[in-house]
Amino acid sequence: MSKIFILGIESSCDDTSISIVDENRKVVAFDTVNQTAIHKVFGGVIPEIAARNHIAWIFPLLDKVFKQSNLSKEDISAIAVTTHPGLVGSLLVGVSVAKGLALGWQKPLISVNHLDGHIYSAFLETKNLPENPYLALIVSGGHTSLIEIENNKKTILGETMDDAAGEAFDKVAKMAKIGYPGGPIIDKMAQQGNPKNYKLPFLLKNNNKYKNEIIFSFSGIKTAVRTILEKEENPNLNDLMASFQNRVIELIERKLKLAFSLKKYKALVVAGGVSANSELRKVVTKIANKEKIELFLPQLKYCQDNGAMIACAGLEPFAKKDFTTLDADVSPTTRIKR
Ligand code: KG4
Ligand code: ZN
Repeated sequence: MSKIFILGIESSCDDTSISIVDENRKVVAFDTVNQTAIHKVFGGVIPEIAARNHIAWIFPLLDKVFKQSNLSKEDISAIAVTTHPGLVGSLLVGVSVAKGLALGWQKPLISVNHLDGHIYSAFLETKNLPENPYLALIVSGGHTSLIEIENNKKTILGETMDDAAGEAFDKVAKMAKIGYPGGPIIDKMAQQGNPKNYKLPFLLKNNNKYKNEIIFSFSGIKTAVRTILEKEENPNLNDLMASFQNRVIELIERKLKLAFSLKKYKALVVAGGVSANSELRKVVTKIANKEKIELFLPQLKYCQDNGAMIACAGLEPFAKKDFTTLDADVSPTTRIKR
């Protein structure tokens, strides 16, 4: 029987998600309430609506997760919660609930950075943790970052100059009127399309300035897609989406290869919503095989925002007694006062 059980709470955007994870990174219980159907009509997340739904659903969800776990509050070792980055109104719901539980149950509270959470999503239910130093690529709706990690020290090697990868998928899908969120829809359409039928520009390729820099940019390709959508009466959307996805992944592939050419890393982690992309999963598997290193990819159910990754990220601070206080703040950015 496990001795440590971390309760993880995630509410940084539009998913209300709660999970209990044990010290072996095994998910004991897990559930998410998803608001996609509500925000779909607006073509994006409306922060106030997201926050109000979190407040309506979080306690019934907590109840459900506890029933699933067969545990009681006495079994919980600590409460881990996303405090940043995210939508402030959404974060406040999860953090307020976590503080209330910590106070009422007299349990330690752990503040988790959402991006660390995504990295830990790739370690859920795995046998090992990555060897150091390793590379972590976070590709989500809000972030695109390549990070070097060595003994918990994180160095950001490169970020996006403009849109995040997932944001580009969502915006292109909106322009093409194919639905929301764009990532999974484009992924499916691209499987039916031929990327060679539309020759969209390669990203950051013709500019020598960026050749040897780890940097991402996804906003330019939107214009190229828009131009085709405006010019052609009946564009082949499967082909166009295949070409768009191809260019986005080609840039990610090129920059990953650049990072590996600069330093020998012992493992690669790819996480965040876009890590669910079937083509990206193939490309990073190939890179890891070529580099002869271990690849950590989250299971598909843990690619999107979830409480399990937050609980998992709480295990190490729990072991080190790195707790936060009941006056903990939230933050829309990766910087936070503690
Ligand atoms: O990590 P996540 O759930 O939320 C953020 O923290 O942003 O990521 C959501 C993003 C959305 O932009 C969505 O379109 C994208 O992940 N996404 C995908 C796929 N599934 C979700 N992008 C590409 N291919 C997919 N299969
Ligand atoms: Zn996320």
